[in-house]
Formats: sequence, structure tokens, C-alpha cells
Amino acid sequence: EGPEMRILVRNDLCQGHAQCNAQAPEIYPLDADGFIDVPTDTPVLPGQEAAARLGAGACPERALQVG
Ligand code: F3S
Repeated sequence: EGPEMRILVRNDLCQGHAQCNAQAPEIYPLDADGFIDVPTDTPVLPGQEAAARLGAGACPERALQVG
């Protein structure tokens, strides 16, 4: 087994564009103000890697990195 994928979140960059949530709502929940509500260094569940990449890639502020 290789190391699992993790999500790195830059809350300081999030502007609430919600594109991450539009692509993968189960992975990228938003808080009541519409900002990303995922703790940084969150592991991606097996089978959700593609969706995690899609959501992270959709962020125009590059606030999300997966790897
Ligand atoms: Fe924030 Fe980017 Fe998502 S700005 S709400 S992390 S699309």
C-alpha cells in the first residue's frame, strides 16, 4: 500500500468560490459563510481520489492541493 492521498487546505486563499463543492460536495463541504470547511491534511477515502483531484483543480484561488 502506498501512502494515501491527502488534502492540503490554504484557508487564507479561499475566497468562497465554491467550485470545489460543486465538483465534489461529499469531499469539499462549505461552512455557513460559504468557505471551505475541510481541515488541512485530511486523508482522501479510497475510491475518492479522482473526485478530490477534480474539486481541488476547480478552485480558481488554488486553495486546495491533493497529493
Ligand atoms: Fe474556496 Fe476555492 Fe472552494 S475559493 S470555496 S476552496 S473553490
